[in-house]
Amino acid sequence: MERLLIEGGSRLDGELRASGAKNSASIMLPAALLADDPVTISNVPHLRDITTMIELLGSMGVEVVIDEKMNVEIHANSIKRFTAPYDLVKTMRASFTVLGPLLAHYGHAEVSLPGGCAIGPRPVDQHLRGLEALGAQIEMEDGYVKASVNGRLKGARIYFDISTVGGTEHIMMAATLADGETVLENCAREPEIVDLANCLNEMGANIEGAGTEIITINGVGSLKGCTHKVIADRVETGTYLIAAAATGGRVKVRDANPDHLELLIEKLKEAGAAVNLGEDWIELDMQGKRPKAISLVTAPYPAFPTDLQAQIIALNSIAEGTGTIKETVFENRFMHVHEMTRMGARIRLEGNNTTAIVEGVDRLQGAPVMANDLRASVSLVIAGLVAEGTTVVDRIYHIDRGYEQVEEKLNNLGANIQRVANV
Ligand code: UD1
Repeated sequence: MERLLIEGGSRLDGELRASGAKNSASIMLPAALLADDPVTISNVPHLRDITTMIELLGSMGVEVVIDEKMNVEIHANSIKRFTAPYDLVKTMRASFTVLGPLLAHYGHAEVSLPGGCAIGPRPVDQHLRGLEALGAQIEMEDGYVKASVNGRLKGARIYFDISTVGGTEHIMMAATLADGETVLENCAREPEIVDLANCLNEMGANIEGAGTEIITINGVGSLKGCTHKVIADRVETGTYLIAAAATGGRVKVRDANPDHLELLIEKLKEAGAAVNLGEDWIELDMQGKRPKAISLVTAPYPAFPTDLQAQIIALNSIAEGTGTIKETVFENRFMHVHEMTRMGARIRLEGNNTTAIVEGVDRLQGAPVMANDLRASVSLVIAGLVAEGTTVVDRIYHIDRGYEQVEEKLNNLGANIQRVANV
């Protein structure tokens, strides 16, 4: 296992390129199982979660060809097995979504129930209810979902009880090959869902309304291959903007999409940052100032993303004033708070651990810390950047699940971070 050693105190300053979106790329790989011909996904980030998904496809006999630029070519028609084992699904929740494409294309699948980040119970009831509404027979056995359908899935009207990104994507994929029209209501509206719909439409699907609450899918008999470039990672982009703001620094993120980060940009302006935007870049400059504390509520897109909550807590911990952060998407998503408190942050949790009140202090002190979720881990890196002395972030395999070359990117901006092996 590896750790990151962070010498705090540097002000970030420089430019970087946003990677392709993990949450887009990781759903497009299962989507490729719907096609009869090879599908090529480009701008795929080089991340642990992507490798896990590729490994899962490989374990099913699907041929995957990757070139040095991370163009990933998936040949679904070489598939031999229709099972996703626990070992792979537990490490990455999104891999559960191979179920719908396998079922829609091949009529049967056995997929382990997922694990993923340790943030709340994260059930899959909406996924299963949606597939059943499309005509799937579903049984649970030994922790596995065994699904089958007689002939093709059938179009249906499905109302999601809650806003679910993975659930919307999963049922949207399955419905592309269903017989007739499917109308999905109360859909999540995240940009990654729109990206997936665009990719599926390039494969010959007929999807309208992605990015709104109602998505209509007219099923087609088969899908062909396509080449699709995934959108920029808005969470990664946002993380570097927050990191620069926390250190009083400046950063320009290229190949980014400012439209997907409107609310974060507003919040960072409230914190005192000067922000300039181009069509595909965002530049933030704190001009050496200490940020002002921000208050916000996380909620489904276009509201403030839960995936940037922990990073804002790190910024607030050294900000001027007190910020209130309410988490409404996931239960139990404040693990980073306890670790930051050990670094001298003044944070108290209220409302049955749904709200963090962060009273900014002048400086944090470096300490050994760890977290067991992806975004929490990166927030500890930000805390380490603004702390005095050395911070050691343990269990960084969580960071590697979602941040491509995190220490290289931050060191290029002037940070002092080293990756070391645990002894
Ligand atoms: C996706 C993102 C993740 C992000 C999250 C919320 C990917 C790979 N991951 O996760 O980074 O934090 O959206 O923006 O895209 N729920 C149920 N029943 C279900 C499904 C979900 O109760 O069947 C609940 C979850 O427990 C959670 C809420 O709905 O409280 C939102 O979850 P969801 O949008 O499904 O998150 P993911 O798709 O897993």
